[in-house]
Amino acid sequence: MGTAIIGLQWGDEGKGKVVDYLSPHHDVIVRYQGGPNAGHTVFYEGEEVVLHHIPSGIFHKNTICVIGNGCVIDLEAMVEEIERIEYLGVNTTGRIFVSDRAHLILPYQKDEEAKLEKTMKIGTTLKGVGVSYTDKYARRGLRMGDLEDPNRLKEVLKMRTKDARKVKNLLMKLYDETAHLMVDTVSLLHHFWKSGKKILFEGAQGTMLDVDFGTYPYVTSSNPTIGGLFAGTGLPPAAVDRVIGVMKVYTTRVGNGPFPTEIKGKLAKQLREKGGEFGATTGRERRIGWLDLFQVKWAARINGVKEIILTKIDVIAGVESIKVGVNYLLDGEPLEFYPATTDMMKRIEVEYVELPGWPEIDENFTWYKAPKELKDFKRFIEHYLSIPVTMVSTGRRREDVFLTD
Ligand code: GDP
Ligand code: IMO
Ligand code: MG
Repeated sequence: MGTAIIGLQWGDEGKGKVVDYLSPHHDVIVRYQGGPNAGHTVFYEGEEVVLHHIPSGIFHKNTICVIGNGCVIDLEAMVEEIERIEYLGVNTTGRIFVSDRAHLILPYQKDEEAKLEKTMKIGTTLKGVGVSYTDKYARRGLRMGDLEDPNRLKEVLKMRTKDARKVKNLLMKLYDETAHLMVDTVSLLHHFWKSGKKILFEGAQGTMLDVDFGTYPYVTSSNPTIGGLFAGTGLPPAAVDRVIGVMKVYTTRVGNGPFPTEIKGKLAKQLREKGGEFGATTGRERRIGWLDLFQVKWAARINGVKEIILTKIDVIAGVESIKVGVNYLLDGEPLEFYPATTDMMKRIEVEYVELPGWPEIDENFTWYKAPKELKDFKRFIEHYLSIPVTMVSTGRRREDVFLTD
């Protein structure tokens, strides 16, 4: 049995928190793409922890966490991340497995990304993720398993950097620290699947940052969408029987690029502060906008989403009237498809409906007692998307998730 958790907006929908919440019901938690660009926030014993490489299920002691072949890894950062988790009192021994096919992020790739960013101005996280994926497709990347292949290491490093010896020494040191984590995760995951283990797949980034379906070129360099799951694990479609989309009741975006429902000014500032909308990886201010259901519909369609988890309903609570984007108009005509080009995105106008907001969420919230306006808002989303909202999240803690009727 497999459940996929996928971001339906521009990332930071609260995937980490949802994965942490669902982990006790799963045996294996898997990341299938992305790397240190991801920032997934979970609370463990009152402590806020931001995970970048390690799946967000690590805080439940019986879970196995797998970093699949579709991920890119900054080994130094991953080692630090594991140390931090251990420092919090979590035993990770024998619980983290890293694919021998996962690509590494190398120092020169980070340097190149910093240079590229100066001209391209995508607003990347500067973690070297894009260049590592570029090298993967250019067939000049180094994978985890290559750390055991001196000839391949030599060949690639000679071709890619003047500091070959220095990088090799660093990699050998990191290999010593991580070799015990490396396995053939394809076989491992097939074994788990065939033996009936419950697997939870943790998407990183979001559908609108997908290199194919997002707002290209202002995207990340992987496929956070459902197809990326199969390519990034080696499991077949039959291994996934539940696809859950995570979305906020408003929208955020970090970095540059089109954002049709973006708002600026007082309300944006208020939501940013109340919702802690600052990048979990880079600390940058997240841009804020109204919920864009036209965009979410596109995302839900691509991923075959069958259920939705709605997060941050406490953050927009207290706003009297909430706008929701329902159509994109191009030259006054409603679009039937999501625009593919930046130029088209510049020319569209969003058509909104306005729905009444709900009062502040208090400590005693239960879905049964939820304000009428919130229930109506949920119904509006369900009707628009023809997908049920099965859970809502009202705060940052694990306990703040509620099943809806
Ligand atoms: P991810 O990248 O999708 O895992 O999301 P991030 O962790 O980057 O960003 C989500 C932020 O919202 C984190 O700071 C979470 O602690 C927080 N969060 C998640 N769900 C809720 C919620 O329902 N209400 C509030 N107030 N914060 C939430
Ligand atoms: P999580 O998993 C939000 C954005 C960057 C930039 C673009 C490309 O926490 O939801 P990259 O470094 O990936 O080449 O940057 O993608 N971005 C994210 N935005 N959440 C993320 O991850 C992101 N990962 C990358 O800001 O606009
Ligand atoms: Mg994040």
